[in-house]
Amino acid sequence: MNEQTTICSEIESCRELVWSARQAGQVGLVPTMGALHQGHLSLVSASTQQCDFTVVTVFVNPTQFSANEDLSSYPRPLQEDCRVLADLGVDLIFTPDESTMYPLGCTTVVQPPAVAAALEGSHRRTHFQGVTTIVTKLFNVAPAHVAYFGQKDYQQTLVIRRMVADLNLPIEIQVEPTIREPDGLALSSRNQYLDGEQRQQAVSLSQSLFLAQERFDEGESSATAILIDMSQHLHDRGVTDIDYVVLAHPDSLESVERVEVGTMALVAARVGTTRLIDNKRIE
Ligand code: PAJ
Repeated sequence: MNEQTTICSEIESCRELVWSARQAGQVGLVPTMGALHQGHLSLVSASTQQCDFTVVTVFVNPTQFSANEDLSSYPRPLQEDCRVLADLGVDLIFTPDESTMYPLGCTTVVQPPAVAAALEGSHRRTHFQGVTTIVTKLFNVAPAHVAYFGQKDYQQTLVIRRMVADLNLPIEIQVEPTIREPDGLALSSRNQYLDGEQRQQAVSLSQSLFLAQERFDEGESSATAILIDMSQHLHDRGVTDIDYVVLAHPDSLESVERVEVGTMALVAARVGTTRLIDNKRIE
């Protein structure tokens, strides 16, 4: 246990600690919903390596879940999360209650940028408004110099970067690579919902992304041709409840006809009742 780790759940004390840390050096912020795995911890390590002071927020944000989603069952191993973060040398852990972040009568929201409308936004209507609102609030409560996000949630990184630019928020956004299991499955707090057979099926999401790369490497550049192969791969492995499989422009997320280096392959599907997403940049 790092003796230096402070755990706090009040807005004023978090803001004061971060403000005083800013006087002494660079402050990094890692926003999370907890149930931490190596994907989250890679962001934490980037911050502890690059910054003088690291604050991690652990808050399962209700406004980014729709009514039919897994808010109530979302894993919340807070004690274990705090122990792991302390071991990594995190300086401050902010773990607010729901009523602290959303007191009665708190109705102001941050309208997400246009890039939020596609893909995740079209399947989870209010999701990104919940994300932009909570992330803005966290930036105000923990006013760091730099905030770390994972490429795993690629559209989220575009939404946040654009929001920061549009609203002139004084924070730098840094994006870190997706951490995967040895077989390729992207780490996710939701992977723990999967049973043995579903875990086998789940790996086909990342396989479909690597297949897109293979087809491109072989000389195929027709998005339609590659998408047919990706969808076929998912279906063959029992993943049939697919929200989207797309090859898209890395900035606009508009579907492309021709795949080139830098095109993004993105996939979202349900395995059992668990909704998984993954993406890969075509190299
Ligand atoms: P959460 O899903 O807990 O993820 C927190 C951060 O960890 C995000 O930036 C996410 O992209 C990153 N992450 C998740 N899995 C990863 C992986 N396998 N490799 C690398 N990074 C990974 O994203 C959220 O929470 C919320 O929307 C939040 C930004 C905290 C706002 O509530």
